[in-house]
Amino acid sequence: AALELIQAHIRDVPDFPRPGVLFKDITPLLNHPQAFAAAVAGLVDPFRAGGVDHVVGLEARGFIFGAPAALALDAGFVPARKAGKLPADTLGQAYDLEYGTAVLEIHADAITPGSRVLVLDDVLATGGTGRAAVDLVRRAGGTVVGFSVLMELSALPGREKLSDVELHALLSV
Ligand code: PRP
Ligand code: MG
Repeated sequence: AALELIQAHIRDVPDFPRPGVLFKDITPLLNHPQAFAAAVAGLVDPFRAGGVDHVVGLEARGFIFGAPAALALDAGFVPARKAGKLPADTLGQAYDLEYGTAVLEIHADAITPGSRVLVLDDVLATGGTGRAAVDLVRRAGGTVVGFSVLMELSALPGREKLSDVELHALLSV
């Protein structure tokens, strides 16, 4: 029932951001407290016994789910931001976009070495963003206990790029 509630509040928007792309819009889910709560619970439930110390949320949509997920796990929240946004010393990791590359950053002191980290985002598509986040956490000395996403786009090979991580997708679309 929780999964149906979540699914019912994800809106398909045809031809966004480009003709031929069917965009999965999570804003109706965010605006429905029961569906939003069910999504956050679904993202964290497999990791409740995992002793998670930090949840890393990926800018921007990963912030929305990552912050309540961190509170639910009694863990710290660490934002992984697009380049140039974090004020103190950072670690950065480049990743591929459809055209060109981007850089994801975390504060260098955010992950306590030896700590257990859950990486969290809304969607797994090509896997580039998730891969960069996992590599960043490991470079900071953290142990990645999992990568949790609301949706996995099954037509894309993102899962293969994260074969060394415990991947948990609530929905496969
Ligand atoms: C989207 C989505 C994921 C990422 C998945 O973010 O929120 O973070 O793409 O794609 P990938 O698996 O191919 O890397 P986007 O960079 O569009 O920005 P946003 O979260 O700031 O909206
Ligand atoms: Mg994103």
